[in-house]
Amino acid sequence: LAVDHDVADPALATAGAGRIAWAAARMPVLRSIGQRFGEAKPFAGIRIGACLHVTPETAVLIATLAAGGAEVALCASNPLSTKDDVAASLVVDHEVATFARRGEGVAVYASHVQAVASREPHITIDDGCDLIERLHSSGPERLRSRVAAADLLGGTEDTTTGAAHLRAMAAAGVLTYPVVSLSEATTRAMADNRYGTGQSVLDGIVRATNTLLAGAKVVVAGYGNCGRGVAARARGMGASVIVTEANPLRALEAVLDGYEVMTMRAAAARGNVFVTATGNRDVITAADFAEMPDGAILANAGHFDVEIDVKALAELAGGRRRPVRPGVEEFTVGGRGLLLLCEGRLVNLAAADGNPAQVMDISFAVQALACEWLVRHRGELEPAVYGVPAEIDGQVASLKLATMGIEVDELSPGQLAYLKTFGG
Ligand code: ADE
Repeated sequence: LAVDHDVADPALATAGAGRIAWAAARMPVLRSIGQRFGEAKPFAGIRIGACLHVTPETAVLIATLAAGGAEVALCASNPLSTKDDVAASLVVDHEVATFARRGEGVAVYASHVQAVASREPHITIDDGCDLIERLHSSGPERLRSRVAAADLLGGTEDTTTGAAHLRAMAAAGVLTYPVVSLSEATTRAMADNRYGTGQSVLDGIVRATNTLLAGAKVVVAGYGNCGRGVAARARGMGASVIVTEANPLRALEAVLDGYEVMTMRAAAARGNVFVTATGNRDVITAADFAEMPDGAILANAGHFDVEIDVKALAELAGGRRRPVRPGVEEFTVGGRGLLLLCEGRLVNLAAADGNPAQVMDISFAVQALACEWLVRHRGELEPAVYGVPAEIDGQVASLKLATMGIEVDELSPGQLAYLKTFGG
């Protein structure tokens, strides 16, 4: 094979190609952007390093960037989310340097991130900051000189967790290059987090356990965009939903949305299904496990596997733990079986297919246009965290509506003048 790679089995490429085609058929916005990129070649001569979940939808994004002239290298942003057949097709059919094997250990995962970092990308694409971190830890001076030479243009970051991390890096003066934070884009917060994650997290829980949500008590920890989505979808399936939330504004919103709101300690004794979506660590801890009823299901929707204290759960269970279904491990605590999904890793990608292609069409359209924006502003940006330019958000929403055949009203000159005068 022509490109450098480390994937589980190149012979899986045909199956992967089929799944990529399925996703591509549901991603018309990205397709239209790919057509424009194919003519304008905005990424001619540009190396892009991407650390993303290796899914069919990601493959469509990578093909779009490649159509624009980019030379793309890809590694996984989580060891359990890689679809090995997709990775194979990227190498065999698309000649993209891909480094990802489902279930890879920590050392292999790190070596894959390093493989992408060592290609010295002009643009980085991250889902959880691992590539940005890797580049920073291998010599900020080199990065600074590449930025000064407009050789390293900038990066993008997908997750809310990653955005918080980048802001901390910027505040500490250690961020060396500009990064566009995608999660705060309206299209992202609304479509991807609320509707995409909201659905795919429940999809993961149901696929792993085949549990009935109707009549269940679902405890959602965190009422950010993802938590709101999970709570609304769980309610739609007939569950009664309890929300736990430390932020009083969000807790109040959950109350006014009609959910029961209480502490995790109080919720622990009542829930049948627990979903963490806070972006923080130690959300469900030893004292909570001790309260939970037999058969409680524990799932994490956050980017990192730190929300459920798996170590404490293992300690409480002693050796009494056993796999009971693919992706489900039962820990016996005080005679009760607690069911941990996918080692506490993000359940929507580890137990299911992640967000549906129709949603990733929006998210990855923003991603592709943000990369183009970085090229257009080559050498002009500070080493800081940038929001997604409002025009990109609006453009993607318009394109999506157009592909859905939905027309919206246009403001008349009189209405525009009115807004100018009265400030709408
Ligand atoms: N993040 C959430 N869902 C995803 C998907 N289907 N592909 C890539 N990244 C994702």
